[in-house]
Amino acid sequence: MNTRSTTEPWLLDYDVAVRAFDWTQAWDDLGGPPDAERGVNIADLALDRHVRAGRGDHVALRWIGRQADGVDEPVDLTYAMLASRTDRFASALRRHRFGPGTGVASLTGRIPDLYVSVLGTLKAHGVFTPLFSAFGPEPIAQRLRLGRIRVLVTTPLLYRRKVAQIIDQLPDLELVLICGATEDQTAGSTNRRTGGPRVVSLGSFLSDGSEAFEIGYTAPETPALLHFTSGTTGTPKGAVHVHGAVVTHHMTGRLVLDLHPDDVFWCTADPGWVTGTSYGIIAPLTNGVTSIVDEADFDAERWYRILERHRVDVFYTAPTAIRMLQRSGVELAAGFDFDALRLVASVGEPLDADAVHWCERVFGVPVLDTWWQTETGGIMIANYRSQPVRAGSMGRPLPGIEATLLARTADGELVLDADGSPVEIDDPDTSGELALRVGWPSMFRAYLDQDDRYRKAFVDGWYRSGDLARRDGDGYYWFVGRGDDVIKTAGHLIGPFEVESVLDEHPAVIETGVIGKPDATAGTIVKAFVVLAHDHEPTEELRRELLGHARARLGAAVAPREIEFVDALPHTRSGKIMRRLLKARELGEDEGDISALESAPERTERP
Ligand code: WT7
Repeated sequence: MNTRSTTEPWLLDYDVAVRAFDWTQAWDDLGGPPDAERGVNIADLALDRHVRAGRGDHVALRWIGRQADGVDEPVDLTYAMLASRTDRFASALRRHRFGPGTGVASLTGRIPDLYVSVLGTLKAHGVFTPLFSAFGPEPIAQRLRLGRIRVLVTTPLLYRRKVAQIIDQLPDLELVLICGATEDQTAGSTNRRTGGPRVVSLGSFLSDGSEAFEIGYTAPETPALLHFTSGTTGTPKGAVHVHGAVVTHHMTGRLVLDLHPDDVFWCTADPGWVTGTSYGIIAPLTNGVTSIVDEADFDAERWYRILERHRVDVFYTAPTAIRMLQRSGVELAAGFDFDALRLVASVGEPLDADAVHWCERVFGVPVLDTWWQTETGGIMIANYRSQPVRAGSMGRPLPGIEATLLARTADGELVLDADGSPVEIDDPDTSGELALRVGWPSMFRAYLDQDDRYRKAFVDGWYRSGDLARRDGDGYYWFVGRGDDVIKTAGHLIGPFEVESVLDEHPAVIETGVIGKPDATAGTIVKAFVVLAHDHEPTEELRRELLGHARARLGAAVAPREIEFVDALPHTRSGKIMRRLLKARELGEDEGDISALESAPERTERP
């Protein structure tokens, strides 16, 4: 039976919603704005609030294990179960003297313990950093160091493969909690050297906690999450988010994802990235829905089975995943029934019109594109279920969000008026830098330890996204491209500098330039141009060795998929690699510019 039409959208009329919106009212839905007595704690609003309201027995997470029968035999965790397990986690943290502000990170796949760790940390006023399990040891070590992480939650396998080899390089790390392990198994991995972190099973840690934890007053500005994101140069940036951000997560969960309390919702994003936290954990829980959590990696047939078997109402995924479904063919999809599915949305990369129409054919609903960033904490621009979908467009700003386009010169500088203020673009279909009026609740509050970089992200009361976009005559935004060299591959943000640094470590390499190369499935893939030292020949064997080196250090998610040997790289006068020219060369564009490749400095010996 078609159940789609019976649920009325929260947002019925865009213009009315925009006019009527105010943030104080948005809080009402969460029991009112933070007050002086309890403040606001994300975990309380996500879990305990539902228990207090008598919904403790509602299923919060439906966990589908990796094995083949996982889809048919899921494990259900109710709101009450999560509330008490997170109490245990929080009180165990306190018992072990990890006070407010303690940095806790996870390196796990999609397992229930991850949700317990995130929300337990938030209850204890700690700051949580999720890490992507497909990262290699180098990106993991760097983020743990930068975040001054004191507690790491991981699995036996990931500990052995990725953590054990870097544990000496992490002076702040005091405790490693191993999920799904017995004491005997963890004993084997305990670091016995003096000063190293203790390694214990999560189970024994939880048994130190008690089942009733007082969250206590949490000021809205209390840091809650630290999400690392990549820039063009330098170290990854740690975007700091606060508890008060939860009103954005909740409100966007309602107005964009249209979450209703009896919905089954599936966000396919990995919890190691911001989407997996904001929309894999926080928004669905504050909205009281049942979330599907699938431990396994992408598999078209498995995904269709999950959508059908669990009668998923709302599905939030990425364009890369939709392209992979498209590739598996319509015949496969035709064997399944998606009649519960009411809304499909995507984020992270451009969603082309073709994918929108394909979904309409296969699922009976179009995909609603949404735009946001690690820094924005939540969805800022979107298409809405009740509004006409403009295929290929990212949609219109959320109620409560003011967006604009700032004019840029050919060199990427902002155009300033006589007063030194940036010039906003009013003309339709003219591209500029997408910017947002400062002050929405989930805006990042800092780049950890990088005040200068934080300040530079703002101009005249606007947050500069770094993305280029245009707006049509009806106010819909269209993605044009990134304004920098950062690479989006399969929806994940990769900093070229991180990849270049690791390749440059190799003794055969003088210098590397890394770009995104267009790819039919992943959108772009990471490609490296490598200049070899004089005494090394550009052989197939060396190429494989470099790819292997990069994979071992960076992990499959970050390492280049392609390496091309070149005699020289183009540089600016100040010596920076001109990745723009490498990209043009890859695409066969800009003949004039390519000559710069030839005129680049001669390759030299490694200093
Ligand atoms: C960058 C942010 C996955 C969202 C949170 C992760 C790109 C995001 C779209 C879209 C085209 C998009 C932008 C943005 N992006 N949404 N709908 N169409 N590009 O955020 O890892 O910080 O990445 O993702 O370039 O700046 P993130």
